[in-house]
Amino acid sequence: MLDVAKLARLKQLRELLAERDRIEAERLRGVDVFGLLGYQPTERQREFHAATEFDVLYGGAAGGGKTRALLMEGIRACVRHPGLRVGAFRRTYPELKESLLAELAQAGYAQALGAVWNASEYELRFPNGSLLMFRYAESLKDATRRQGGQYQLILFDERTLTAPEVCAFLESRLRSGRSDLPVLGIRSGTNPGGPGHGTVKARYIDSTAYGTKVITDRRGREVRFIPSKLADNPHVNAEYADDLRNLPEQLRKAFLDGDWDSFMGQAFGEWNHDRHTLDPITLPAEWRRVMGLDWGFAAPWCALWLAEDEDGRVWVYRELYKTRVGEADQARQILAAEAGETVGPRWADDAMWATRGDAQPIAAVYARNGVHLTEAGKGGRVAGWQRLRSYLADGPACPHHRAQGLEVCPRLHVFRTCENLIREIPALPFATSGDPEDVDSTASDHAADALRYALINLGSGARFHFGEPPAPTPALDPTATGRHDNLRPTVPNVGGFPILQGGDPWAL
Ligand SMILES: Nc1ncnc2c1ncn2[C@@H]1O[C@H](COP(=O)(O)OP(=O)(O)OP(=O)(O)O)[C@@H](O)[C@H]1O
Ligand SMILES: [Mg+2]
Repeated sequence: MLDVAKLARLKQLRELLAERDRIEAERLRGVDVFGLLGYQPTERQREFHAATEFDVLYGGAAGGGKTRALLMEGIRACVRHPGLRVGAFRRTYPELKESLLAELAQAGYAQALGAVWNASEYELRFPNGSLLMFRYAESLKDATRRQGGQYQLILFDERTLTAPEVCAFLESRLRSGRSDLPVLGIRSGTNPGGPGHGTVKARYIDSTAYGTKVITDRRGREVRFIPSKLADNPHVNAEYADDLRNLPEQLRKAFLDGDWDSFMGQAFGEWNHDRHTLDPITLPAEWRRVMGLDWGFAAPWCALWLAEDEDGRVWVYRELYKTRVGEADQARQILAAEAGETVGPRWADDAMWATRGDAQPIAAVYARNGVHLTEAGKGGRVAGWQRLRSYLADGPACPHHRAQGLEVCPRLHVFRTCENLIREIPALPFATSGDPEDVDSTASDHAADALRYALINLGSGARFHFGEPPAPTPALDPTATGRHDNLRPTVPNVGGFPILQGGDPWAL
């Protein structure tokens, strides 16, 4: 049994230790963290460290000093706020080792600040009780392993390489159980490309007009983008800069110039916003309307409406893209959006026919609510992406584009109101494992999947029944050869579409 004197001595010791920590924390609070670590931020890094917004992305070109700035930001926050917990994330451990941990080693594990490195836990502990934790999170499973963890500051290095839902989950761990401990927010660094490209581009780059303004998101969080350029960093060696300059065009644009419209591994580099999208126009009522549908509840659910013109071009004219809508309600929303149009077939993810214990298949719930679906089936993902590629390609111009003086236009036209589809297609990266022709299934691909389900079933693409360019020869009778590409402009037509006098426009 402990005697009273011993207890008193223990209490005294504890108080002394607490006092020492208080003094140490006080001393630390005033120190020049960057100076002690021998870090002289570049001008752009200073801008990053001075940012007061909740959510800041430092991004763009390679070699600008993003990783080092992130690390220094984390260390400085630990010093300034006693008891702070900071999570520093990268997708995989080897990547973590080559980036943040390499910079930490260069900074002498912040020993100059009295920090102690725990090499088995990958944690840097500060004398004021703050903790900087280095973690990898490739999957939701990795991320949820740390469920109990809560952070007041989160750092993501190469954020676009981590799947968006992994980042979202980790962000949900941002909280503070103490009134004296502020939640500082999120700091990310990244180059363009990877499964998070589309989500990151939409949140930080597009919404802030490439960093020219700060925006406030729906949750009231201020979001800022600070573009990084290689030229910002005089410390990068000339060889590295030369290597970047000698990259193939598309990679050079992404890595050297920080161009967010092209990036390494982009699956649909042929997407061109100006050419594939248009402001909504009225489409002829007689064109066939069909639907592609990808189901989701926690993940987005997406329905796309497509109209097929006489030449087999596809016009995506409406999109529903929502989360947390039950299946009966999804069916009702679809019917409401159509308001009496005749639509069919509606091709959907085969998984919607799976039985779910006692519950009815989702497709059955849809049917009960008036929306009859057809299984998309057919050949799997890669075949679907190839079909999409053939629709992205050019054919003879449609009347709409011809009126603008163009001779060719893509076989896929998307109304600008279909924002999610327009965001997803150019942002989809090729898979980095499995079939290299496939698209990375961890990227946000719900609208693209819905489109793929419809296109794979629509047929192999456009069949143009008027020729290009018209030859100055006498009119031919289109029914004489049965080949409609022999049609000449003297054939009666409506809005550029020939009147086929009973002929079948689809037969070649
Ligand atoms: N302020 C600085 N002072 C001295 N060296 C720096 C500074 N900032 C960055 N560096 C060095 O420049 C190099 C590139 O920096 P860093 O790795 O942080 O850039 P990055 O933008 O993360 O690059 P990448 O896009 O390749 O990940 C590294 O060797 C880093 O140590
Ligand atoms: Mg880096």
